[in-house]
Amino acid sequence: MASRKPFVAGNWKLNGSVELLNEMASSIEAVSNDQSVDVALFVPALLVGESAKLDVVTGVQTVSEFESGAYTGEIQASLAKELGAKYALVGHSERRHIFGESDDVVAQKFVMAQQQGLTPVLCVGETEQQREQNETESVISAQIDAVIDKLGVAGLEQSVIAYEPVWAIGTGKTATPEQAQQVHQFIRAKLASLDEQIAQRLQILYGGSVNEKNSSELFAQPDIDGGLIGGASLKKDAFISICESAKG
Ligand code: 13P
Repeated sequence: MASRKPFVAGNWKLNGSVELLNEMASSIEAVSNDQSVDVALFVPALLVGESAKLDVVTGVQTVSEFESGAYTGEIQASLAKELGAKYALVGHSERRHIFGESDDVVAQKFVMAQQQGLTPVLCVGETEQQREQNETESVISAQIDAVIDKLGVAGLEQSVIAYEPVWAIGTGKTATPEQAQQVHQFIRAKLASLDEQIAQRLQILYGGSVNEKNSSELFAQPDIDGGLIGGASLKKDAFISICESAKG
């Protein structure tokens, strides 16, 4: 089994401030100093430059599928890169469900992020209803296939996948470690059937109501390589303790 470095990322969504960023930066530096865990923050786009200047590994929460042009309000991948971003979330369930992004649009964003030198973090996950109807695997497959259709499995080499069951996001209802592991294993096996090496190297993160109490057990699962943390990433002590727990 390939040894994958754990990765913990905070997704601040439409929250946070310059003050919070300053407060977090030195603690993040301290916890990631020994190189045993990758730590990043997906800050609101307006904070990307500030965050990168503080040497925080930084990501944007979405990017436009368009390179440039008359698209008022969009976030330009190349500019995020220029400001120092390393990662871009694509296909977060809030983008899919609130802003109507289809699998195809998400895949175009993935392509654009990668073309501009950002590492895409592809978010996938099923709704509660889809889970109840036994559609978890088919939904996630379609979300991943949309990217593979455009780039081949090789497109996933420089990327990260985050499994975020929609029913667990912001609800306090976490997937059990077994439920999460089952889906992570499914994702890895699906990719392994196309390219074993890529599958073994890929970091697959779990997201959905992760906190400092449940993170160790989740991260101990063999196919869970860390987490994408929403609410708890806005609290310094909780977030740092989650990062610590990923060190194993
Ligand atoms: P919560 O941790 O608040 O459930 O959010 C998860 C998430 O959406 C991270 O991207």
